[in-house]
Amino acid sequence: MVYLRFVQAELKNNLKRGEIMKKLALLGGAGGIGQPLGLLLKNSLPQGWHLSLYDIAPVTPGVAKDLSHIPTPVSCDGFAGEDPSEALKDADIVLITAGVARKPGMDRADLFKINAGIIKNLIEKVATVCPDAFVGIITNPVNTTVAIAAEVLKKHGVYNKAKLFGVTTLDVIRSKTFIGELKGKNPADLDVTVIGGHSGVTILPLLSQVKGVEFSDEEIASLTHRIQNAGTEVVEAKAGGGSATLSMAEAACRFANAIVKGMNGEDSTLCAYVEGGSPHARFFAQPVKVGPEGVTDVLDYGALSDFEKKTLEEMLETLQGNVSKGEEFVNNQ
Ligand code: LMR
Repeated sequence: MVYLRFVQAELKNNLKRGEIMKKLALLGGAGGIGQPLGLLLKNSLPQGWHLSLYDIAPVTPGVAKDLSHIPTPVSCDGFAGEDPSEALKDADIVLITAGVARKPGMDRADLFKINAGIIKNLIEKVATVCPDAFVGIITNPVNTTVAIAAEVLKKHGVYNKAKLFGVTTLDVIRSKTFIGELKGKNPADLDVTVIGGHSGVTILPLLSQVKGVEFSDEEIASLTHRIQNAGTEVVEAKAGGGSATLSMAEAACRFANAIVKGMNGEDSTLCAYVEGGSPHARFFAQPVKVGPEGVTDVLDYGALSDFEKKTLEEMLETLQGNVSKGEEFVNNQ
């Protein structure tokens, strides 16, 4: 049976004999983020990867069929319904976008009521079906849903903090874009570290450290504010039609490929919301190095300007409260 699976995988993904297929499960794969993310992953995952979509929407197998016609050496399938187990079976990476999005006037914490339960149920399945997988959480409020995931995995005795990530890459790519626009630079050439969490005041781009650009105090204040509120900028522009989907898909695709690189033993560092290494909160977005078994090092994010020190200080109560809310949601039930 196992041999048959390898032979089928070899044929499907053009693997060399004996090469083992890797699998990424995308939960929420037919949604506003899931569909473009599936497309980006189909076009960017290395040869030998299999992409498995899961969503409650009946269209999900069709979305996978649609993707499967794109000529890349990444195979895919899709599953709909209440149970994500088939998609999760043998998964090496699980990305979770499932859940509801904001409408104007809401902040990310307002999504807690619905999304907390969704994350809890999906992570219960991850814990039983693929407990060793890397897990990347996109579903908001990320500051809280990651804590929920950690506590559920812990209850199942399978929590490995080195493999659980809140995806904060969108804050990094937005920072690059906005700095590029302001300073007339190619955003791809800019390197920006963003620490804290993924909502409003908890998002702290370290603008004082960006190489090759100088900012006035006013620019620092307004750019920081714009990056912190960029999600709301999209929510308002979509006027009731949801929140960021395309830029989030791009961000999540970059995140996934950074994990794949690390899994392959290549040098891979990224900013992500992880447990450990921070004196500020149990979970903290920070630069980390990823290897085949998960986070290997939490990297020093360097010296902060006075403005950044103050902003960090001011976010901590909110961030710690967001984390506790997730822990309590699981442990007080
Ligand atoms: C974003 O940053 O765009 C996402 O977290 C979605 C949202 O609600 O802002």
